[in-house]
Amino acid sequence: MKNVTAIVLAAGQGTRMKSTRAKVLHEICGKTILHHVLSAAFDAGVTDAVVVVGFDGDAVRASLEPFGERVRTALQAEQRGTGHAVGCALPQLGRAGDQVLVLCGDTPLVRAKDLERLMTTLASSPARTSLALLTCLVPDPSGYGRIIRDGGQVRAIREHRDCSEAERAILEINPAMYAVRTAFLEPAVQLLKPNNAQGELYFTDVVAQAAEQSGAISVLCDDASTLVGINDRAQLHSAEEVMYARIAADLQRSGVTIRGDARIDAGVVVEPEAVIEQGVRLRGATVVRRGAFVDVGCVLSDVVVAEEARLQPYSVATRSTIGKKAQIGPFSHLRPDSEIHEDAHVGNFVETKKTVLRKGAKANHLAYLGDGDIGAGANIGAGTIFCNYDGFQKHRTDIGEGAFVGSDSQIIAPVTIGKGAYVATGTTVTKDVPPDALAISRVKQENKEGYASRLRARLKASKPKPS
Ligand code: UD1
Ligand code: CA
Repeated sequence: MKNVTAIVLAAGQGTRMKSTRAKVLHEICGKTILHHVLSAAFDAGVTDAVVVVGFDGDAVRASLEPFGERVRTALQAEQRGTGHAVGCALPQLGRAGDQVLVLCGDTPLVRAKDLERLMTTLASSPARTSLALLTCLVPDPSGYGRIIRDGGQVRAIREHRDCSEAERAILEINPAMYAVRTAFLEPAVQLLKPNNAQGELYFTDVVAQAAEQSGAISVLCDDASTLVGINDRAQLHSAEEVMYARIAADLQRSGVTIRGDARIDAGVVVEPEAVIEQGVRLRGATVVRRGAFVDVGCVLSDVVVAEEARLQPYSVATRSTIGKKAQIGPFSHLRPDSEIHEDAHVGNFVETKKTVLRKGAKANHLAYLGDGDIGAGANIGAGTIFCNYDGFQKHRTDIGEGAFVGSDSQIIAPVTIGKGAYVATGTTVTKDVPPDALAISRVKQENKEGYASRLRARLKASKPKPS
């Protein structure tokens, strides 16, 4: 089977979402509903796709950018039904192969293997078979189109609102996924008439046309939960739960330990022997390499965690990299463009932003390190602040290899502290410190012998008597 184009219908508003955004743009596990449908189609082997857009069309179009040239769009300016929508896609088909896959953009849980089965079934059927459709059995078919059979053969699909009482009892439904012979599709769509309760052109009537020529075959799907269409926020929620469980199961099979309710978004990479603890969220383009440990409650968005790095509980990181065997947390905050190199440590209540900690550098407690470069093996004491912002501009702090910055120091950027230099505790650094120098800026300590008891006596005498 080669050269199959998918037509994906995504022009509707999805009124039941009660949203100003198109329904297909709502996200499940970090990707849009539509993105999941397209991914399944490509995994199943389709070569390219035409997405039919309408409501919120510019935003839907923009969301397709990650797919590049494999996906193009067709405009359905007015939503006149699923059959009309397919008709709008036809001019975009180009040099389509023998069959076209027709899908809805609102079924994110669809599995590639079911789409593949649909396409191979049609491909291996006699030429007079013009269409294969997926069907499934559900306990509650309300809202779905029912599969009308006669002598076992598919005859038609009747929409819920067009069904008779007897037809409503049918439990076999139409999930709206079809493989159709390209040569049959165009004339069949042109014959559609709006003779139904909604006055729309129903793509389901194309199935009836195929059936008339005994050319419609069905493929029964064994897991109806994978075919649900998302129409409201409750369905969005339950579909997302199913997908998180699916992602976790796939990773567990590959050798990743996942505990409790950890949630890993679609597209995140986790290598075998990594441990993802309870309450962790991994988002976006995050990659967790072999043997890394991500402890309870960490939230990572677009972060690369190298082999055997250890993230202690409740650390939050965004668009940053964490090196081999580095240690982060508990309660660290790595803001965008932080680079924590091999064996470096970032401890509790340390915030970094656009800062590099080179190999083995340490900032173990309470610090703000913004716009800096901290040399290999340097040590940043508790309470150190890189004063990087003067109210107008950001400035850089550069700290040389092996330097030592004592606790409670303020480094007023722009400034450079040389290799192996020593900044005494409590120093306010306002100018560059040469390599190997000591910087100290604090008032000399004075001790007044015996002064404490004299002070107490004075204070006691002045205390007002209780009345
Ligand atoms: C459709 C099927 C129904 C099936 C159900 C499965 C028809 C007539 N009915 O019903 O048999 O059981 O899906 O979920 O096909 N769309 C457009 N343009 C339009 C109308 C719809 O692009 O003019 C898109 C929507 O954005 C959506 C998809 O087509 O992604 C399905 O439309 P929807 O209105 O949800 O169809 P259902 O009533 O669910
Ligand atoms: Ca629907």
